[in-house]
Parts: sequence; structure tokens; C-alpha cells
Amino acid sequence: MSTVDSQKRVLSGMRPTGQLHLGHYHGVLKNWVRLQHEYECFFFVADWHALTTHYANPQGLEEHVIDMVVDWLAAGVDPDAASMFVQSSVPEHAELHLLLSMMTPLGWLERVPSYKDQQEKLKDRDLETYGFLGYPLLQSADILIYRAGHVPVGADQVAHVELTREVARRFNHLYGREPGYEELAVAAVKKMGKKASKEFSVLRTAFQQQGDHQALEQGQALVRGQQNLSLSDRERLMGYLEGSGKMILAEPQALLTPAAKMPGLDGQKMSKSYGNTIRLREPIDDVAKKINTMPTDPARIRLTDPGNPEKCPVWQLHEVYSDTDTQAWVQQGCRSAGIGCLACKKPVIDAVVAEIEPMQARARVYQQDTEAVRAILVQGAEKARGNAIETLKDVRHAMGLGYR
Ligand code: TRP
Ligand code: SF4
Repeated sequence: MSTVDSQKRVLSGMRPTGQLHLGHYHGVLKNWVRLQHEYECFFFVADWHALTTHYANPQGLEEHVIDMVVDWLAAGVDPDAASMFVQSSVPEHAELHLLLSMMTPLGWLERVPSYKDQQEKLKDRDLETYGFLGYPLLQSADILIYRAGHVPVGADQVAHVELTREVARRFNHLYGREPGYEELAVAAVKKMGKKASKEFSVLRTAFQQQGDHQALEQGQALVRGQQNLSLSDRERLMGYLEGSGKMILAEPQALLTPAAKMPGLDGQKMSKSYGNTIRLREPIDDVAKKINTMPTDPARIRLTDPGNPEKCPVWQLHEVYSDTDTQAWVQQGCRSAGIGCLACKKPVIDAVVAEIEPMQARARVYQQDTEAVRAILVQGAEKARGNAIETLKDVRHAMGLGYR
């Protein structure tokens, strides 16, 4: 497991879709902004992933990349706290993808639920391609190359993280059993000194015989704390602790976003394809216009007709944006025909504007200085690349390519 503490590391990626909307903010970005202070974070633009479905019309890709990163920055992702980069500027992802493809059973990819689903959904494109089949494995490479322990994703991506775990396990199983593994592991235990060796053995037994996960964590911390051990010895010990052979690639965990399902202007999930979005850079006047023209409970034709918030998409926005007092005011006023729909919408407009105004101020700065955005991406890629190269070195060795 090298010297990287996987449990402290977060990786996530997003396809370059251009300007982002409130659905992205509430579903993903807000979470990233929180995580960046708690973990070592890597956030990347999945431009190769975009090509798996858009290979026939890559026009506008560059603009989409920059626009999306401007919105990350606008939303508060901080380049001093998190590394942001573009996937294709870290070509090590591609080499790891290639190497993993050698040992990944075809059936694992064919069985990924999104494979058939997306082919059905995106009927207008030919997705009978090698790249499209392999895209979940590319995602595995994205994750494994950073030895990331946590991957914040939506529910639709959990199967991909699960595949990644299986790939890591298979890799460690195939390549972690170097000749003389057992003896090397025992020798590495001795190198820790008498006291630590004893503690290690107790913890290892507690985990392997009683499944004591706290003991496992203590054991991992113990190994991490051994400054005088070589990298290979540490990897051996990490694997020996769990009994799986040398642990070269770390198994990640999906960090399921506590996703507020952000409703769009029509009450369906907010999505560009439904045309029901408010962009983070939506002109402020248009925010009011869009919300003021939102459909409401169809039973409220006149101001004097009582309504039911449960049948109104505006209420769903109150659930995201309003405090309990305002919510009570809506419930009471709507059901008794005491308030009009325009009055009801006003606090939502104000809340959305208050949320995106500071984002727009930050976005303006970066929009006028795209060189600064590019510099952030270059810096992020350098940091990412340093880490990727380390992992790839271990992988090459494990697969017999150490002479390279
Ligand atoms: N497949 C993801 C999506 O479509 C994007 C992605 C690519 C990703 N690589 C990743 C997400 C690695 C998390 C980790 O949304
Ligand atoms: Fe919807 Fe508010 Fe009008 Fe009721 S008063 S129908 S909740 S907009």
C-alpha cells in the first residue's frame, strides 16, 4: 500500500458537460467542498470518458472542460485544498487501464448495469465500441492509480466502484503472491523490532480469527508508523495483516453522496436534458423569470382556490431552501388560499440568488482569466502525476515489467 494512507484520500471525476447547474451543486459540488477540508482530495475532468460516448463529435470539448472547472472554482472548490486536473494530462491512467485490461474478465464488463442501459438509452449513437465496453475499467484505473480509499459518487456509479474493488482484489491476488512471500512477510515483521512485532502478531490474529476490524485498523496504523521499513516491506505487511498477499492496489469504498435529489423547475430531477435547470451562472434576472413561470398546483387557478403543496414543484424547492418557519407559512398559506403563488415563490428566488451570487462573482474572475484556470489544472496535474507514477511503478514491477 506504499506510504499512501488510502483512508485519507478521496478521488472523484466528472464528465466535462460545460456549465453546471444547481443539481450539480447540491448533488456533488457541495459535498466536494466539504470533503476537501477533511481528506486529501483529487478531482478531475473525465475528458477521455466523454469520448467513450461522444467520440464522433468532440467539438467544444475544450470549452466544456474550462467552463466546468470555472464552475467548480465558483462553487468553492479550492485549489489550495484540492488538486484539480484533466484526466488526459495524466497519461498514467491510460497505461494502468491497459495493464488492468490484461487481467479483467470480459464478463465483468459486460455485466456492468450501465453498459446495456446506456446502449439502450443512447440509441442515436453507435456504442458497440471497445472504448465504451472498457469505460468502467478506465474508471477503475482512475481510482486505483491514486490508491484512493473513498470515491464520492451518486448511486448510478456504485457498481463501478464495486467493479474497481474486484479488480483490485484480483490484481493483489494474482501479483501479490511473490515467490517466498510468506518468508519475506515474516522477515518484515521481525524488522519492526520486538515490541511492535509482538503487537502486530496479536492484532493480525485478532483480525484473522475473530474478524476484529478495529484490530485491523490498529495493525495498519502500526505498519504506517514504521518509518524504517522499505516500501515493499510495508506493502507486504499490509497484505499479511489481512492475509491476502502483498497489497499493491487499495480497495476503494463508494462514499455515497447524501444527495438531496435536486428538483428542477418542473418537479422532475434537475437535468440539462429535461431543460429544467438553473445554471450556477444563470443571469440573476432569469432566475426570477424562470421561477416565476414555474408551474404550480394546477388546482390553484384563482388566488382564492386553496392548493396543495404536495402537488406543486415550488414546494420541493422550499424543502431545499426554506427554514421551518417559511415552510409552515407556505403550508398554511397555500392550503387556506391565504397567499398567492408569486408571493410563495419570492423566498425561493431570494434564496437561490443568495446562493449563486457569490459564485457568480468568483466565476467572473476566472472567466476573465482562463490562464489562471489552466495554471490551476497544470499544478493539479503535476501533483496527481507524481502520485500516479509511484503506483504505476509498483504495478509494472508486479506484472514483470520492472526492467522498463
Ligand atoms: N463515470 C463517472 C460519471 O459518468 C465519471 C468518472 C470517471 C468518475 N472516472 C471516475 C467518478 C472516477 C468517480 C471516480 O459520472
Ligand atoms: Fe405552489 Fe406555493 Fe402556489 Fe401552493 S402557494 S401552489 S406551494 S406556489
